[in-house]
Amino acid sequence: MKLRVDLLPHGNYSDTVLVIDVLRATTTAVTYLERGAESLLLTSSPDVALSLKWQPGVHDDAGEAVRNEQYLLGGERGGLAIPGFDFGNSPQEASQQNFTGKTIIMNTTNGTAAAHIAAQSGSRVLLASLTNAHAAARRAKALAVEEIAIVCAGTDGRVGLEDVYAAGVIAEYLLALGELSVDDGARIALTLRRSAGNPLEALSSSQHGQTLEKLGLGEDVRYAAQVSESTLVPVMSEVQDIEGALRFVAAT
Ligand code: MLT
Repeated sequence: MKLRVDLLPHGNYSDTVLVIDVLRATTTAVTYLERGAESLLLTSSPDVALSLKWQPGVHDDAGEAVRNEQYLLGGERGGLAIPGFDFGNSPQEASQQNFTGKTIIMNTTNGTAAAHIAAQSGSRVLLASLTNAHAAARRAKALAVEEIAIVCAGTDGRVGLEDVYAAGVIAEYLLALGELSVDDGARIALTLRRSAGNPLEALSSSQHGQTLEKLGLGEDVRYAAQVSESTLVPVMSEVQDIEGALRFVAAT
């Protein structure tokens, strides 16, 4: 079995892909499902998300568009909520909510885009973070035939230390589960994992961690630094029924 770690999403995957955006998209995705969401829809753009907010062609007596109550919209640009969305992309805030029966439509700067790149070629796509690291490693090992690819979302096309660190944590778990032939990306991730201190030190020292702290979202960095608190793994559903959106459901 091969283990490949892409420090940025490159595409051309053949088997099982773990998409990582620790700060914060994949951490928040796990939290939404932990808090009862039925499924997630990761859209290719904010416009696709906003188009799903309303019931197509349905208007009330005043001629106003009618909300699709089943859907809630969560997403960010520059770390803050996208106009017209119900909330931003905070795992800390999401952990206080109850999303039972809802489908969360997500669009973020890097994380949802990375999932779309992975889904173009990967036969199985899972969302991983530090909070579900062990469960994600086990699930990937169980599903993969020849190769596990860990894809780091990064930030605006640049490598993110926090994602590579998490890739190192997951690679370490995978190596504990059995023999793997690793590529240089995996060796870089393992080296960082062993040298960058504990998870909170690593995430707080990252550029995006510092950006979130400056935005007053430091609680999200601390939340995302928890390791293997969850056994839930968002898995791309076999049923993809909405153009421009990827449906993910919980595998436990
Ligand atoms: C992203 O997709 O770029 C991140 O999740 C951004 C964030 O939530 O801070």
